[in-house]
Amino acid sequence: MTSTHAFWLAGRQATGEAAFDVTSPWDGSRVGTVSLPTDAQVEEAVAAAYAVRDEFAATPAHVRAAALDHVSRRLGERTEEIARLISAENGKPVKWARGEVGRAVSVFRFAAEEARRFNGGEAQRLDTDAGGQGRLALTRRFPKGVVLGIAPFNFPLNLCAHKIAPAIAAGAPIILKPAPATPLSGLILGELLAETELPAGSWSILPVPNDRMPALVQDERLPVISFTGSETVGYAIMDSVPRKHCTLELGGNGAAVVLGDWASDEDLAWAANRIATFSNYQGGQSCISVQRVIADAAVYDRLLPRIVAAVEAQVTGDPNDDATDVGPLVSEAAAERVEAWVQEAVAAGATLHTGGKRDGASYAPTVLTDLPAGTTLACEEVFGPVLSVQKVNGESEAFAAVNDSKYGLQAGVFTHDLQTAFRAHRALEVGGVVIGDVPSYRADQMPYGGAKQSGVGREGVRFAMDDYTYERVLVLTGLAL
Ligand code: SIN
Repeated sequence: MTSTHAFWLAGRQATGEAAFDVTSPWDGSRVGTVSLPTDAQVEEAVAAAYAVRDEFAATPAHVRAAALDHVSRRLGERTEEIARLISAENGKPVKWARGEVGRAVSVFRFAAEEARRFNGGEAQRLDTDAGGQGRLALTRRFPKGVVLGIAPFNFPLNLCAHKIAPAIAAGAPIILKPAPATPLSGLILGELLAETELPAGSWSILPVPNDRMPALVQDERLPVISFTGSETVGYAIMDSVPRKHCTLELGGNGAAVVLGDWASDEDLAWAANRIATFSNYQGGQSCISVQRVIADAAVYDRLLPRIVAAVEAQVTGDPNDDATDVGPLVSEAAAERVEAWVQEAVAAGATLHTGGKRDGASYAPTVLTDLPAGTTLACEEVFGPVLSVQKVNGESEAFAAVNDSKYGLQAGVFTHDLQTAFRAHRALEVGGVVIGDVPSYRADQMPYGGAKQSGVGREGVRFAMDDYTYERVLVLTGLAL
């Protein structure tokens, strides 16, 4: 895996004048070298996408659906190879990488299904008032224009899929920028898209360096920006283009609430295992990984040792090994940041139950209690394998603790009670509430996105299609209704 990789410019392979290396966070080895597009090549891709936008919007649904089905099928056929690539460039354990490929298979399949049923049009009679006699409104959705998709490193394949697949399904051309640390998984999608009949120009995958992105963000031919990544960068983008349509999928500090009725040995074992797994999957580098456990006093003393034991049972090590649960973080700098935040928390009075050690880019799965309010760890998204457990008294205090955060992406609530579930749905200021499981559950067809500082807009194939399009009404007159 050390050849130079081309990028995808208006549906064809191209190389630029410079290249950069992609290295494994696990052992520092070179995974590949990726060619960088020149400014002229970026301009060519944007011009091609802009020029093809009307033709692409009018492409028959069966053509777009067939292309999406093709990518879905080919991803499935190449699962093992692509999973190994994700694991190599990202450090994600290969078993989780296989899961990510499986999700991308579904995302393209869902997009094919949505392409077939999207935009059938909704008819509305207007003769409910005398002025509308004989009139009918037909509402259909049309693409806002070319989408600029900006993807993060943590799901380097599936979060690229979440940008590209809905764009194709909606008939919107897309320029996708994969993350600089993990461009290879996104570029693989180009290989599969190039096997389809989609019009040239309708898609490009360009590993544009971050410092050259402001010009692309400002480009008026790209009216829609779909960004997944940090809160700082996301809001900087949105603030720089207030008149564009921006979807921002930003951070979270996911809370798992364990209420007093979730109390049997079986209940607590399930909660502890799910919490341990999903505070550490991908080294905690998921916006919906479990960062906070908020446990009712009725179960806290029995739950905490189970969580610590389940966290200690996580197998750490080589991401290429099938047995590994937790690999390295994306870089040594990322692990150093996590280390500093934990050290700050402990110095401020937090109790360390397990973990708290760094080895290069790897950080040991860590459990804390007594986390003082105001510490960085209590306020920010750790994006690492670190969990804090907090004791509360009753449902109201638990829900208030969840909401005591600038973020609001997803929350998990372990309860058996349906009324409590509905109260949680009403009370929690998040984009999604998961009952009986951790906040990390995401089905790729459901709406996904945040409240508060976790972002604006929704992904989840059809919801992204809504975001990429707008309603245009056709009023028909003189009809016999
Ligand atoms: C994210 O980190 O925002 C994505 C989580 C997921 O797709 O499971």
